Amino acid sequence: MKNAKTRRPHRGGAHAAPAGRPELVITVSRDATESRLMREREKAMELQLMQAEKLNALGMSLSGVAHELNNPLTAVMGYCQLLLREDDIQRHTRHREDLETIFKEAARCQKIIRNLSTFARQHKPEKTFLGINGLVKDILRLEEHNLRARNVEPHLDLDEKLPKTMADYHQMQQVMLNLLINAVEALAERKAEGGVWIRTLAADGSIRIVFEDNGPGIPEENLGRIFEPFFTTKPPGKGTGLGLSISYGIISEHGGRIWAENHPGGGARFVVELPILEPPAEPRARESAAKGACPAGARVLIVDDEQAVLDVVFRMLRQMEIAPDVARSATAAKAKLEQSDYAAVLCDYRLPGMSGLDLFEWAKTAKPDMAARWVFITGSIDVAELEATGRPVLHKPFTIQEFREKVAAVLAP
Ligand SMILES: Nc1ncnc2c1ncn2[C@@H]1O[C@H](COP(=O)(O)OP(=O)(O)OP(=O)(O)O)[C@@H](O)[C@H]1O
Ligand SMILES: [Mg+2]
Repeated sequence: MKNAKTRRPHRGGAHAAPAGRPELVITVSRDATESRLMREREKAMELQLMQAEKLNALGMSLSGVAHELNNPLTAVMGYCQLLLREDDIQRHTRHREDLETIFKEAARCQKIIRNLSTFARQHKPEKTFLGINGLVKDILRLEEHNLRARNVEPHLDLDEKLPKTMADYHQMQQVMLNLLINAVEALAERKAEGGVWIRTLAADGSIRIVFEDNGPGIPEENLGRIFEPFFTTKPPGKGTGLGLSISYGIISEHGGRIWAENHPGGGARFVVELPILEPPAEPRARESAAKGACPAGARVLIVDDEQAVLDVVFRMLRQMEIAPDVARSATAAKAKLEQSDYAAVLCDYRLPGMSGLDLFEWAKTAKPDMAARWVFITGSIDVAELEATGRPVLHKPFTIQEFREKVAAVLAP
């Protein structure tokens, strides 16, 4: 578009043109297309930054909530499992079934919290060198029945030369399933002519996976909100509004991008962009979990400030025929460790005053044998600091099986 500006230059009286008739017209025109495009690009980038900041802030508060919920859930799940092992309960069918329901529902809460943590991008993905095309075919196979039942025709356009990349298979599968199921749900009204188009391509040194559907598309006012957790336009009980926020977390964790747009022909388009990553030169040997049985009578120190967690861990250790000792703070634990040795130290991360990590740092020099028998317990989902110690981390809430495995691995000779 041209931008024209016309003005009449000032002239002295002697040379003035007859009234009403311009003597000279100067036209200045400027091609503004480029600067307009630049402004639009800047605005889009600004929006994307704002969105990322907003999601980051949400991620932080979700981490806090998850952490607070993990402590009580550890107690609920732990007590349930302990009770389920009692003979009286096993004989009483109704009590057993009720407890099983409580455990199942608590496990569901645990899953929601884990999902939220994925959104908060605190879980490290387990990446392998994989082909995205195979993944796309896998999810279509998984959803084949659902697609047929809903009369949705899948169309594939896969770049056979697509390079492989490092990605977590299950997390990527989760993202693609979310996108596919969203498309299918959006098409629910279309009956006969609903279609989903999935394309893979390599562009600008990245891998792109594009999902398109010919559904109703996304209203303009929702485009900026659909990646927020709990944002849903589906009726209660149908959608939780977590699918896209989880996908956003996973893709960001992979160093990629995900965005949504409406394509001109109608319908929604979701684009996932992943970096092309080579496998590490030397695959790291996996830490093999020690399998030895626990030596009966071993003494283990539990350091936690939550009474319910202390109680439940105490009883789990008793069941393993291990003698538990407890400390409610890092300072109390330090005093105990100065006095005696333990077969293992199960230490909470966040403790009032001195933290579990500080206590571990102290033990590394003052009691290195104990530091080598350390297990961190945490309800926190931000565990990068703990993982950096190289010590095993037990995530609250945990099942008796997970607890036993982690403790047994440390106790094994
Ligand atoms: N392909 C699509 N077409 C139209 N709208 C979509 C599409 N995909 C997502 N949306 C919109 O984005 C919203 C958020 O999607 P998201 O997957 O996060 O949650 P949900 O599908 O509502 O619930 P959940 O995935 O947790 O079951 C949806 O409720 C819907 O309004
Ligand atoms: Mg969804």
